[in-house]
Amino acid sequence: MPRDTAGHLVPGRISPHREVPAFIPRPEYVGKAEPDERGVGNLYSPEEVERIRHAARIAAQAVEVAAAAIAPGVTTDRLDAIVHEYLVAHGAYPSTLGYRGFPKSSCTSVNEIICHGIPDDTALLEGDVVKLDVTAYVDGMHGDLCAAYPVGDVSAQAALLIERTREAMMRGIRAAAPGREVNVIGRAIESYAKRFDYGVVRDYTGHGVGRAFHTGLVIPHYDAAPAYDTAIEPGMVFTVEPMLTLDGSSSWDLWPDDWTVATRSRALTAQFEHTILVTETGTEILTLP
Ligand code: MF3
Ligand code: CO
Ligand code: CO
Repeated sequence: MPRDTAGHLVPGRISPHREVPAFIPRPEYVGKAEPDERGVGNLYSPEEVERIRHAARIAAQAVEVAAAAIAPGVTTDRLDAIVHEYLVAHGAYPSTLGYRGFPKSSCTSVNEIICHGIPDDTALLEGDVVKLDVTAYVDGMHGDLCAAYPVGDVSAQAALLIERTREAMMRGIRAAAPGREVNVIGRAIESYAKRFDYGVVRDYTGHGVGRAFHTGLVIPHYDAAPAYDTAIEPGMVFTVEPMLTLDGSSSWDLWPDDWTVATRSRALTAQFEHTILVTETGTEILTLP
């Protein structure tokens, strides 16, 4: 339900904790204040890649199943329940649940919420844009993706923002190849976003993912050269997850819940994310259903 009189999102009510069956292995950080991500590398053997692919596929399937329920009147908590049930039914732990204290099994970010929205009793309204971000942990590996969806009929500018954010992610992914620096990814994303005077969020980035939810590797979505010059190598796994704003802005506010990130201007935002593997010749998307 919650919106203020201007129609902006306000914090809703968070439902009770969802349980994960005890036989499903937890990531090391569950029940701790902070994860231990020190010294976690970004290169994977073919056998390890298959384990990440398995986690990534389950996460992508959970997004697909939850997305099919998106409609006016549906709450973000309902989407979270669908994700949670799907992940645990497939033997996966919802990586966000208990990550640095995050209370739910997905992130649901509506309209001006850039990322890390907490699923609650907010009912989706016709014309909204909702981003659904899911990470699954299974067999010691995490796979992470996000997609933006229209709720019912949306404005032409909202539909274009969604489509162009997806295209920006794809251009970032296609720019990545062995021998290049990771900063080529953000260069491709930012130059495409600029065509439409969209803003690129700078303070939330892509990241290495696999044996940890977030390894130390950072993938900017803006043109950061000459910084972020890590060489892209075959066997690397990381996310590309641009967040674009309709009004060209990139400043944000953090809600008092310490998670929810909103555009300071309250402008509409969209995000897409895939977990990708670097191959000998280019990249391969792992977060496919
Ligand atoms: N899945 C998000 C990402 O793409 C991270 C969510 S962390 C949480 O990196 F704690 F907010 F869930
Ligand atoms: Co991510
Ligand atoms: Co994510």
